[in-house]
Amino acid sequence: MADVKKIAVIAGDGIGPEVVAEAEKILKRTEEVFGLSFETEHALFGGIAIDKKGTPLPEETLAVCQTADAVLLGAVGGPQWDNNPKELRPETGLLGIRKELGLFSNLRPAVVFDCLKDASTLKPEVLEGTDLIVVRELTGGIYFGEKFRRESPQGEEAVDTCAYNVTEVERIVRQSFEIAQKRRKKLASVDKANVLETSRLWREVVNRVAVDYPDVELEHVLVDNCAMQLLRRPSSFDVIVTENMFGDILSDEAAMLTGSIGMLSSASLGQGSFGLYEPVHGSAPDIAGQGLANPIATILSVALMFRLTFGYEKAADAIEKAVAEVLDAGHRTADIAVDKSQAISTTQMGDLIAAAIR
Ligand code: NAI
Ligand code: MG
Repeated sequence: MADVKKIAVIAGDGIGPEVVAEAEKILKRTEEVFGLSFETEHALFGGIAIDKKGTPLPEETLAVCQTADAVLLGAVGGPQWDNNPKELRPETGLLGIRKELGLFSNLRPAVVFDCLKDASTLKPEVLEGTDLIVVRELTGGIYFGEKFRRESPQGEEAVDTCAYNVTEVERIVRQSFEIAQKRRKKLASVDKANVLETSRLWREVVNRVAVDYPDVELEHVLVDNCAMQLLRRPSSFDVIVTENMFGDILSDEAAMLTGSIGMLSSASLGQGSFGLYEPVHGSAPDIAGQGLANPIATILSVALMFRLTFGYEKAADAIEKAVAEVLDAGHRTADIAVDKSQAISTTQMGDLIAAAIR
């Protein structure tokens, strides 16, 4: 019997509770099949927390997360809270939880499932074998630098500043090397070192840290070139690490290799093994409560949690294999179905994937 892992479950709003319920089926199934043991604790977060507790991120929710080994998050938000003041908006809770939990990197895998190759706008032969992960620095760079307006002789001027220190770069670079070690052992560090001083420092740190990971093959790629190569040879990438703004753009580009937002998982990591795992999509109020949501993004987020926080490689592989098997057999939720009349529901998809875990 494995030791008991504590998972904070925050379902949130809209389709959040629907997709999280399917992910919990997967947890249960892996307990049975692999002898794992999870203790889940549910907590209020987002719009529902605003309605019930008067704040998107209640103290007790934060406490549940802080004492857990990992967090499983659905999605938050909806039109009924859009016009609230900032402190009473669901997204304020999202920013708050990332900050409070010290989550400085965001990981987005882009995996192309063979049978869904036609869901992408790229040619199937280009996508063949694509399985990469973008690691984006989340708490530094130009988004957090000093910003202001001033008068100039040519009229009003706006200034954004980009700053990175060695500590900020080193922690995410080490994390990325460690992730690469658990995968195909290839790391692409993306910067603009031919122009930017922050990028020069970034590259120096990467080269220094690389000495500790001789088994990982490192390449430096300029960001503009990376944007091209992602479309030209996506399958050649394994782990891509980059700063905040480059990562924002490249992770959206990489996500679209795979076709549907209902398939995309993510992890946010800090120091150590703790992590927050969630689908990339939002609360999809347009389809909430109708059994139409694709639970695969959340289910694949569980696989990420197993791999990155718990080191349960075999169980993670089994989840990913189960998803591929169910898709190969032709089962589709509406978002990925060619013939919508044949689509199955959220719970049917969850049941099929759970049953396919062996
Ligand atoms: P969204 O991702 O919720 O939906 C975009 C489109 O994709 C919709 O047509 C939706 O039906 C579809 N979709 C999303 N997830 C799906 C799934 N699992 N299966 C099938 N179809 C799916 O983005 P949108 O509409 O811009 O935002 C809706 C709400 O979600 C807003 O309140 C927004 O602030 C919030 N949001 C929350 C996020 C989070 O909790 N991390 C991230 C993004 C948006
Ligand atoms: Mg973005």
